[in-house]
Amino acid sequence: MPPNFQLQCRLLLILLMALRGESRYLELQERADYDPFLLYSSNLKRDLAGEQPYHRALRCLDMLSLPGQFTFTADRPQLHCAALFISEPQEFITIYFDLVSIDCQGGDLLKVFDGWILKGEKFPSSQDHPLPTMERYIDFCESGLSRRNIRSSQNVAMVFFRVHEPGRGFTLTIKTEPNLFPCNVISQTPNGRFTLVVPHQHRNCSFSIIYPVAIKISDLTLGHLHGFQVKKPSAGCGGKGDFVELLGGNGLDPSKMMPLADLCYPFHGPAQMKIGCDNTVVRLVSSGKHINRVTFEYRQLEPYELENPNGNSILESCLSTL
Ligand SMILES: *[C@@H]1O[C@H](CO)[C@@H](O)[C@H](O)[C@H]1NC(C)=O
Repeated sequence: MPPNFQLQCRLLLILLMALRGESRYLELQERADYDPFLLYSSNLKRDLAGEQPYHRALRCLDMLSLPGQFTFTADRPQLHCAALFISEPQEFITIYFDLVSIDCQGGDLLKVFDGWILKGEKFPSSQDHPLPTMERYIDFCESGLSRRNIRSSQNVAMVFFRVHEPGRGFTLTIKTEPNLFPCNVISQTPNGRFTLVVPHQHRNCSFSIIYPVAIKISDLTLGHLHGFQVKKPSAGCGGKGDFVELLGGNGLDPSKMMPLADLCYPFHGPAQMKIGCDNTVVRLVSSGKHINRVTFEYRQLEPYELENPNGNSILESCLSTL
């Protein structure tokens, strides 16, 4: 399966579970099997590069990783809809409302969220996002077209909508813009390599991989090489100064995930871990005094690795719920 297709399926599952309150992963997996998400295969993505803007209908539950123009038209009252957008790590997403025909007075709704929020869990978490939670929602029914262009603060964004009357709906255009220092990121792929750089900024950055993975931290620089203290890993980082934490969990919100390891001294790797959680996060906490950098590689765990955790030195914290 092309990795992009895997992501579509996986996210669709998460979304379905969140919106419909389902919790039986396997049932949903079957339901998603027939989904025409092959449309988004990486081949198509390549074919489309540099050509006419991609245009298609938006579904009530949808997931998009391509720029383009998307139109939603209700064919019956559709009251619990959401579309998730994801771009490359080094990109922001911009959402333009081209045309909106909804009935705000009649209870219709169209809201953008800066990030993803599923089952009350946000990415980025409130601790890591530059804006307070309320300001991450942009409600079309309040702001109208005065906020026609909305730019996300990271590579994910989301739109919630509710349309009562058949025939009504909206058209939006999704574009991407380069982000020189990606801070919060959800990986589109289950395998990859990334360097998170936080240059003299007092902020926290989380890189999230929503697959069980083996992760290898190959390089970590916190500030200057002079004058640092090497702390015993067993002592943790005491929540002070600049450090990297590795988190595991089964939800989206890094602030609700389990700390698995703290790294608080510059070192040249590798440090490797197998993490059997649905979501693995590398989080860099920065005071702004230094230029911090962490490089890591990750690959999805094979089914046999998850089935036989003991022989594979997998952290077992999350395995029971897989
Ligand atoms: C970053 O995270 C730390 C601990 O997780 C927290 O104490 C601090 O307030 C956060 N900093 C910012 C700028 O949000």
